Amino acid sequence: MKILILGSGAREYSIALALQRADNNIKLFFAPGNGGTVKLGVNLSFTEIDKLVSFARDEGIDLCIVGSEDFLARGVVDSFEKAKLKILGPTQKAARLESSKAFMKEFLQRHKIKTAKFLQTSDLSEAKKFINSLQTPIVVKADGLCAGKGVIIAQTKDEALNVAKDMLSGASFGEAGRCVIIEEFLDGFELSIFALCDGDDFVLLPACQDHKRLKDKDQGPNTGGMGAYTPSSLATKKILKDIEEHIIAPTVRGMKAEGAEFKGVLFAGLMIVNDTPFVLEFNVRFGDPECEVLMPLIENPLDIFLACVEKRLSKTRLKLKDEFAVGVVCASENYPYKASLRAEIFLDQIPSNSHISYAGVSLEDEKLYATGGRVLVCVGLGKDIKEAQSRAYELCKSVKFKGKQYRSDIAYQVLR
Ligand code: AMP
Ligand code: GLY
Repeated sequence: MKILILGSGAREYSIALALQRADNNIKLFFAPGNGGTVKLGVNLSFTEIDKLVSFARDEGIDLCIVGSEDFLARGVVDSFEKAKLKILGPTQKAARLESSKAFMKEFLQRHKIKTAKFLQTSDLSEAKKFINSLQTPIVVKADGLCAGKGVIIAQTKDEALNVAKDMLSGASFGEAGRCVIIEEFLDGFELSIFALCDGDDFVLLPACQDHKRLKDKDQGPNTGGMGAYTPSSLATKKILKDIEEHIIAPTVRGMKAEGAEFKGVLFAGLMIVNDTPFVLEFNVRFGDPECEVLMPLIENPLDIFLACVEKRLSKTRLKLKDEFAVGVVCASENYPYKASLRAEIFLDQIPSNSHISYAGVSLEDEKLYATGGRVLVCVGLGKDIKEAQSRAYELCKSVKFKGKQYRSDIAYQVLR
């Protein structure tokens, strides 16, 4: 079995690790991969879609798994399917759930799925009118690709208006803020929910929580995510049933009805307000670092991925380990502000029931270097969150590189 994985993060590394753990005859290829994936398979030097299609055909790739969203927005699934190659991910049209905030919000309205009231506009007087119609606090977002950093929670209407003004004038986020989204503030706790979908059916993975802020106690700037854990006991049976029936099922049904059947990983970023789930955002791929804590719990990853691609989910059982996982991101010194100097990584013995998923690393002369951003994720497994957390932190302490920074409170939400 030959599998091609698209992306370069710890997310893609963790998918590879789980596949190889379940079946060590699997041969893996990555495009582009990273300095860690070199040890698990072959890194390809190209990422153009036409080249990937030719490679997959010539090499006889049995399945392609898309980790990163930009391949999806570029239509990689459409091209692979046209060439009759198996690929896990949504088409470009279905990927609009992530690539177009306006499409996503309007879709939710059409299908009566709960989400915050919102307005997307480039017009200041329209923004002002909407701000005046809301209660405070008010969320103001720059619409461009600000990598999660363009979100401001304004405590007063005046502040919301000033933030919108600065964004629209280009003063605060340049071109990315020329269109703003103004949203009702939802007061609750966040969950990351993943559904593996085959177009008709879906199966939910255990509920996760991400930690978006850089510092402990959710302080500091937003990042790509500094750690995650799963399953979360905050996701009660009642909440999960509500998510399944009122968010995921109508989304999968609605996408099919609109001619954009959803195959792949549907990631709902939810805010739970008084036990009721609201959609903050959809992504159309695994979350990073959520993937790094989910994959070690899946016993039959290949089976379940193939069932999605081949539309056999209703006949395939997802097998999960009865365990907990905590993942702590170790990032470079200057993350998320600017690049950091390359630094050699030193590892002690890896304790049992824990492992590393690599992201921002390079391998040179058999030495591993941190090259910036989120460098690696220390994952601990255990019979409960506490045990998983202490294993993750034990591993974290044994990994050394200059400038290493990590949060010390991952999974605090369920350990208070
Ligand atoms: P986003 O960039 O849209 O993913 O938002 C980043 C973070 O801002 C989310 O993970 C939430 O913590 C917060 N956020 C975004 N929208 C809202 C909202 N409507 N109400 C409360 N918090 C929000
Ligand atoms: N952890 C959030 C994301 O992958 O977008």
